[in-house]
Amino acid sequence: MHRLVISMKLVIFGPPSAGKGTQAQRLSHQYGIPQVSTGDLLRKAVADKTPLGLKVKSYLDQGKLGPDNLIVQLIKERVSKPDCKNGYLLDGFPRTMGQAKELEKMTDIDLVLNIVVDFEVLVERAVGRRTCPKCSAVYHVKFNPPMNEGICEKCGSQLIQRDDDKEETVRNRLKVYQEQTEPLIEYYRRKGKLVDIDGSGGIDAVFGRMVSMVDKLK
Ligand code: AP5
Repeated sequence: MHRLVISMKLVIFGPPSAGKGTQAQRLSHQYGIPQVSTGDLLRKAVADKTPLGLKVKSYLDQGKLGPDNLIVQLIKERVSKPDCKNGYLLDGFPRTMGQAKELEKMTDIDLVLNIVVDFEVLVERAVGRRTCPKCSAVYHVKFNPPMNEGICEKCGSQLIQRDDDKEETVRNRLKVYQEQTEPLIEYYRRKGKLVDIDGSGGIDAVFGRMVSMVDKLK
């Protein structure tokens, strides 16, 4: 498959279950830059029972945001790794104004892709999501099922349902998003860095819309 390597720093923005991770994995392949997902990094820390994982577990379980200082430190460490030298795709960061200001001190972002989806659609996407605990691939029981039910197509692991994908927790995550994260849309829009991406329709259609925006950066 065609793989184009160029240098860019992108943010994939949007409410819980908008499709950030799904699209970030595809964009990462398309442009040859790594996906940096705070959600994946935090879930791994929890699974590995690292000191960070022990501190953030209760936040994830309740659908609340982890403390800014811990999250910013996590991102700084991740983007200083060699695979990020040609840029990266931030998925799930920044999520508060404090995180956005810290990011600004660290680097210049080229573009924020804001996925726009109706809230009721989000609940259906979250509740039907299945993920691979090993390689973080994302599926959906109805919209994007794996070839063999319950098995990751990429690495053969047994798929799981995330603990925070219960309907009640999803609704709480949506509330937290509205209160703490949504204000960043206007912040980046005023800076002329944000484009809205219609997140309705299938995964391929959304991906096409994203690529047409990112390609304008070249
Ligand atoms: P995180 O993992 O980032 O969760 P999130 O933002 O709630 O996003 P999701 O992973 O739920 O969804 P997504 O937008 O990636 O959608 P996906 O592609 O999977 O964070 C989890 C927790 O970690 C937070 O609650 C918080 O506690 C903590 N945290 C993380 N970052 C933090 C930060 N910066 N600060 C503080 N705390 C932080 O798609 C969803 C489903 O829909 C899938 O099943 C997929 O197959 C399907 N789908 C995708 N696109 C489509 C489509 N176009 N049509 C149909 N189905 C689709």
